[in-house]
Amino acid sequence: MAEPYYLTTPIYYVNARPHLGHAYTTIMADVACRFNAMCHKETFLLTGTDEHGDKIMKAAAAENISPKAYADKISALFRELWPELNIQYSQFIRTTDEKHKQVVRDLLMRIYDAGDIYYSEYEGLYCYGCERFYGERELVDGKCPDHETAPETLKESNYFFKMSKYQQWLIDHIKANPDFIRPEAYRTEILSFLKEPLEDLCISRPKSRLDWGITLPFDDKYVTYVWFDALTNYISALDFPDGEKFEKFWPVSQHLTAKDIIKPHGIYWPIMLKAAGIPVYQHLNVHGFWKIDQSKMSKSLGNVVSPLEMKDIYGLDAFRYFLCREMTFGLDASFSEDALVDRINADLANDIGNLFSRVLAMANKYCGGTVPAFDADCLPETELNLEALAGRTVTEYEKHMQSFAFSRALTAVWEFIGAMNRFVDYTAPWELAKDPGRKQSLDAVLYTLIEGLRIISGLVSPVMPDTARIMAGQLGLSGEGRTPAYDLETLKTWGTMAAGTKLQKPVSLFPRVEKKTPQAVAAEKKPARPDPPIEAAVGIDQFSKIDLRVGTVLAAEKIPKAKKLLKLQVDIGEKRTIVAGLAERYAPEALVGKQVVIVANLKPAKLMGVESHGMVLAAVNENQAAVATLDGEILPGTRIK
Ligand code: ME8
Ligand code: MG
Repeated sequence: MAEPYYLTTPIYYVNARPHLGHAYTTIMADVACRFNAMCHKETFLLTGTDEHGDKIMKAAAAENISPKAYADKISALFRELWPELNIQYSQFIRTTDEKHKQVVRDLLMRIYDAGDIYYSEYEGLYCYGCERFYGERELVDGKCPDHETAPETLKESNYFFKMSKYQQWLIDHIKANPDFIRPEAYRTEILSFLKEPLEDLCISRPKSRLDWGITLPFDDKYVTYVWFDALTNYISALDFPDGEKFEKFWPVSQHLTAKDIIKPHGIYWPIMLKAAGIPVYQHLNVHGFWKIDQSKMSKSLGNVVSPLEMKDIYGLDAFRYFLCREMTFGLDASFSEDALVDRINADLANDIGNLFSRVLAMANKYCGGTVPAFDADCLPETELNLEALAGRTVTEYEKHMQSFAFSRALTAVWEFIGAMNRFVDYTAPWELAKDPGRKQSLDAVLYTLIEGLRIISGLVSPVMPDTARIMAGQLGLSGEGRTPAYDLETLKTWGTMAAGTKLQKPVSLFPRVEKKTPQAVAAEKKPARPDPPIEAAVGIDQFSKIDLRVGTVLAAEKIPKAKKLLKLQVDIGEKRTIVAGLAERYAPEALVGKQVVIVANLKPAKLMGVESHGMVLAAVNENQAAVATLDGEILPGTRIK
């Protein structure tokens, strides 16, 4: 029976459309599975979407549709993108699947029954972007390192998972299994994080605040949300607890993620599994981040790369090759179309493309378009022993492919391609062809080259499946039921090309690409807008969360040393102190007695030492400011709707 191989990608949040980063992880996962299939493993590639939580609810509200309708829409974008990128996933899981929700409840119940979930009040710093509480020491300059925003203070009664209880166990496990988290740098990062006491994990949200989640099995006033929900997908997809898939694939499970989510994967998840009495996964494989010309890829910078656009402009296999080759596994890399064009022209059009067309053209010209016979004794003397080099290349390639070091694996293949091109130059078949007495030498040289092409086409197949298929076709290897190019064993064996096999005429595999001129790049840039656009529609439910009240200004004074600020006492049915940035436009006494519009349910904030409990609405531009007032006297505290 074939050995199983199970690999997962993160399940992506549906609050954003798929971009280069998501495409990268998922393509890498596809490459890994295709490679393992080449090694005769039964592979299972899991991907999907993460659909619960505040973020998704907010994104749905911004589009004025229900969270489910919103999730359906974005989830489909991911699901439909993968085949376009030639990604052969085995299953696409959604956290809104009924079956998944049931497994989450089952897992929670197990851990609850084991006594590792408790109820308690907690006040902490919460990042809505990450959907988790942060400890002070995790913040950078008081901000979430990922979202670069200050987390908000949140106080709530919630359910907590006793992670602290398993801290020492996890440390021991990571130390005993050096490749549990790889590459090494991330293992070190997790171990150093575990040097400090681990805080327990908040796993619930009261439904009164968030109901877009999975109801807890032991308290229906609460839902669980992102991490407890999301991580569980890796086993719910396999029909945990007693599915056949779980039995077959879970013992060989491997996860692939970028470095942004190593804590949930390297800490929460193994502890969740341990607490539930489930064996932990085998490997967590962590890659770095794609940056765009040195900066972070983000919507606000307007530099988000669309994988489909890259495919349309440069071709899918070129794009896949670039991603695999350009990023050293574990490190960050920089994406630019210039670098992509350079790789296409140098590695693809020149190195591999030329080699194929040269060799096939010669085989057609000198051997009637068939594979010639091979006699090792007739090979001309050169320092290049391609047979031995091919063997070493495949060994090197296999080692790197197994540990996700695709860039290294491809480097080894390209060294072999370089050697093949040099071999052509040394042996100069066109010279051999001039001398009928050297026909056997010519045949031996061409056979060697064709054999090399066969091995190359197989080695690149996980990364460039379409191209590999064309190559195999050119080499006459695509006959019915014959796909030897996709089997690692046959790539380790030299000399399997059968003499007499019909070859095809060469085609251009990778045409050269012109770089975009600076003028063309400039023409693509959209003109700057003078003002930010009006935001997309807000639902009435969202708007009505803002409590606007009529306020009568009772007193006003300047705040010492603050050029812009006035401290107001305002009657809004109750007396409030409100700080307003109006000092440059209004003398304090000019405001007293005015009826103004107050945002009454704003979180208190301290400004120049004064705590402000609300906000005065005013129209403000660069040179002017005017407070919003009411068209007629009205009882202070009246709601404005
Ligand atoms: O974190 N470079 O989802 P997410 C490389 N739902 N990879 C990138 C990238 C970049 N610039 N940007 C994103 C979540 N990625 C959770 C996961 S799993 C149980 C729950 C990729 O939509 C990379 O794989 O924010 C990263 O880990 C993932 O997208 C984060 O996706
Ligand atoms: Mg993210």
